[in-house]
Amino acid sequence: MHNMTKKVTISFDDKTIELPLIVGSEGERAIDISSLRAKTGLITLDSGYANTASCLSSITFIDGEKSILNYRGYPIKMLAEGYDFISIAWLLIFGELPTTEERSSFRKILTKEELLHENLLHHFKAFPDYGHPMAMLSAVVNSMGCYDQTLLEAGHPKDFLLSASIIISKIRTIAACTYRKSMGLPLNYPNPAHSYSANFLHMMFSLPHKEHVPNPDAVKALDLFFLLHADHEQNCSCSTVRMVGSSNASIFASVSAGISALWGPLHGGANAAVIEMLESIQNGEHTIDELLELVKQKKKKLMGFGHRVYKNIDPRANLLKTAAENLLEKLKIADPLLDIAMELYEKATKDSYCIEKNLHPNVDFYSGIVLRALNIPVNMFPVMFAIGRTPGWIAHWHEGQLNDKKIQRPRQVYVGETLRSL
Ligand code: ACO
Repeated sequence: MHNMTKKVTISFDDKTIELPLIVGSEGERAIDISSLRAKTGLITLDSGYANTASCLSSITFIDGEKSILNYRGYPIKMLAEGYDFISIAWLLIFGELPTTEERSSFRKILTKEELLHENLLHHFKAFPDYGHPMAMLSAVVNSMGCYDQTLLEAGHPKDFLLSASIIISKIRTIAACTYRKSMGLPLNYPNPAHSYSANFLHMMFSLPHKEHVPNPDAVKALDLFFLLHADHEQNCSCSTVRMVGSSNASIFASVSAGISALWGPLHGGANAAVIEMLESIQNGEHTIDELLELVKQKKKKLMGFGHRVYKNIDPRANLLKTAAENLLEKLKIADPLLDIAMELYEKATKDSYCIEKNLHPNVDFYSGIVLRALNIPVNMFPVMFAIGRTPGWIAHWHEGQLNDKKIQRPRQVYVGETLRSL
């Protein structure tokens, strides 16, 4: 998979050393600096890890210049058109699309694991109604680890499928509970007759006197939303999961940490920030032109634009744009925010600042429109992202357990006070 025969020569002071050049299966080249300090006394400094690969990985490939996103070698568009979220979860975690039998037995385990332990449900009584759903989600996912001590060990292959299934299935139940809690509504039990995504909508919206019958178009759009968020290689939350897992912390603790990392507005919180930005235009706080001017003056960020890896359009953004348009049409919803988003897209992509900085819409630019059409409130947006991202976190946690032999522990360049006396 990677070729280490080539070397890179580095000269420093009067020393010249050779370091191995690693070549990935898609041709990406990396200098293996693991022996740099031993050979020269030097370390590297790379703020935000923008030029640092933290691991070798076989799960997801992104070429940000060419708008390519492949899960296990398959283009995202192909997968989005032919498969559902559960099959993609299997693909990410186990490396191959499931056979009919594997798909059906995976579905059975997920259904079996969809209920929360009754004691776990009591956690929701103790949270304040105004508590943020992401805080509850992270806390309850971590607490799940208390209910089966055997699953707390690092990467045991026999129990791995069970641990993965427990998290993928129950995170949807927990997520719906966080919403019900914040609305002062009774918590709903899952209904095994529903598909993964329909079951989530049932748990969100069914009332004691009125069962919510999920609309098939809504279910399809939600499943696509989850699928498109399922993995995105070594982003902030994924790297967090791998880092926590590198200390041999359990899969529950690691995924819980990933949820916390996802919460921030520069990562999973961005889709909510996009809606706030579009609303600020809708309520007349500023026009699109004024917003773009503020962006140029660095007084505001254009939320839902820009990406560390994509310097071209995010392929997920295109798929979600189409999904948003179809869903609004099917559900006969006229959302003025979509019109504002389209106008902003037109103006921003022709704007000299955005062109110069290579700012294109990312997945979050349209995802909020889809979630609004599904009646998901804005404070639940990062929770929705977390449900979708869970298979990716699990796949990376597992890959890390199998391949990463060292605890992750970066160095630093100390710039504080030198030794001083009191
Ligand atoms: N609006 C305005 N300017 C931007 C934006 C933006 N959205 N994104 C980048 N820039 C500018 C930066 O100010 C910087 O300008 P400079 O060269 O004058 O210093 C330049 O473009 C390079 O940007 P960086 O911040 O170095 O890019 P980085 O890779 O660190 O950040 C990030 C990526 C965090 C996604 C950034 O583009 C951003 O904040 N976007 C808005 C938030 C957002 O949409 N996040 C979702 C990301 S996708 C996801 O998590 C699913």
